[in-house]
Amino acid sequence: MTAPESRDHNVVTVAPQNPSASAYDVRIGTGILANLGPDVCAVVKRCRRNQPAFLIVDDTLPDEIISTATLSLEAAGFAVTSADITASEKNKTLESATRLLQQLASTRAERTDPVIALGGGMVGDLGGFVAATYKRGVPIIQCPTTLLAMVDASVGGKTAVNLKTETGLKKNIVGSFWQPALVLADIAALSSLPVRTLRSGLAECLKHGLLCATFDIENDLFGWLCAQLRAVFDQNRTAMQELVTRNVRVKATVVRTDPHELDPAGGRALLNLGHTFGHAIEPLVDISPTVNPDDAPVQHGEAVALGVVAAAYTSVALGTMHADHAEAIRVAFAKAKLPTRVNGLPSDDALLETMAHDKKMSGGTLRLIVLDAPNATDELGRCCVVNDPPREAVVAGFDAIRGA
Ligand SMILES: NC(=O)c1ccc[n+]([C@@H]2O[C@H](COP(=O)([O-])OP(=O)(O)OC[C@H]3O[C@@H](n4cnc5c(N)ncnc54)[C@H](O)[C@@H]3O)[C@@H](O)[C@H]2O)c1
Ligand SMILES: [Zn+2]
Repeated sequence: MTAPESRDHNVVTVAPQNPSASAYDVRIGTGILANLGPDVCAVVKRCRRNQPAFLIVDDTLPDEIISTATLSLEAAGFAVTSADITASEKNKTLESATRLLQQLASTRAERTDPVIALGGGMVGDLGGFVAATYKRGVPIIQCPTTLLAMVDASVGGKTAVNLKTETGLKKNIVGSFWQPALVLADIAALSSLPVRTLRSGLAECLKHGLLCATFDIENDLFGWLCAQLRAVFDQNRTAMQELVTRNVRVKATVVRTDPHELDPAGGRALLNLGHTFGHAIEPLVDISPTVNPDDAPVQHGEAVALGVVAAAYTSVALGTMHADHAEAIRVAFAKAKLPTRVNGLPSDDALLETMAHDKKMSGGTLRLIVLDAPNATDELGRCCVVNDPPREAVVAGFDAIRGA
């Protein structure tokens, strides 16, 4: 992976280790959506007049973002067909994919004609799935418009839809790996993002800061993030561009080392730091954060924040991390105005049961990502995998985030 930089925007090139997989650029800068058309031409390589381009759009985006993207594609000679979708997990389904595939087929798109996903991770995952399956795969250009989608969902080629089953909606269990041809992260799009959605993205950034040194990359990210929180909440464009760039470098490095999450020692699975706890917390509708109690039920990033704090205290109980670090992690998440405790958390047994459900799905062993900084003087940024941790250690994690 290389990261050349130009005056206007940064470029992180994601180069998979597998030589048969193509490298792609992640462009990060303010106003870069205005160049979407020429950038798409450059990656689809066969740009003819009136070539179809299928633009899947989050329908809550400001008109300005949508028209910038559309006009740029049209000016580059694309015949643009737009399809709106409301960003919601309920809409990230095979039914939505079918509707989009039908619309795409009606444009008579060929194998080389691009699909462009303009929106957050929901639109990116669904658009990626549509592109991966139409005619066995057409180019997908990801244009993420949330912080989470810029630093996480748009990079790495995971595409997915949720599946309605007899026992409820199963998230992301239908999908495939389909690498984007290009990712354009326009920092200007973040200015309309609700602050709560911004905070949820920040939770994933802080998580990156706690695992990046394992891959020997962006080693000071966690400390840098803590120092930049004010600038990020003020939407300082320079700080936002650096925030996204540094986090994309982390995600790009991790997925490059283990593109299909097969490394038993960790690899891409380390990105799940906080997520095993988080997944047990996210579906709970009766819990409320002790700070910002109106933020209930918790969103994904908020559940990840709670999950990382829980994982930190589990790490202390296991002896892999010094207690001072766990407190510093709690303080950092609290400074980002993310929840670190919740009221109404179910019993230990009920939470363990939910985590055991995840465990069955992953082959019978509870696999936790824990932090690795046993001494007070160790730098934060390393983590590792622990299989079947003792109950008391997991419960120490629950206790750390349990409010009233
Ligand atoms: N593929 C991956 O590797 C990967 C990784 C992490 C998450 N995901 C997926 O990503 C999804 C979550 O992504 P998300 O947090 O971006 O959620 P999202 O796409 O649902 O967007 C969150 C909210 O922000 C709104 N929004 C988006 N951009 C906006 C903008 N610029 N201005 C104003 N509002 C805007 C959306 O309409 C929505 O209401 C989940 O479906 C998750 O499974 C995928
Ligand atoms: Zn996540």
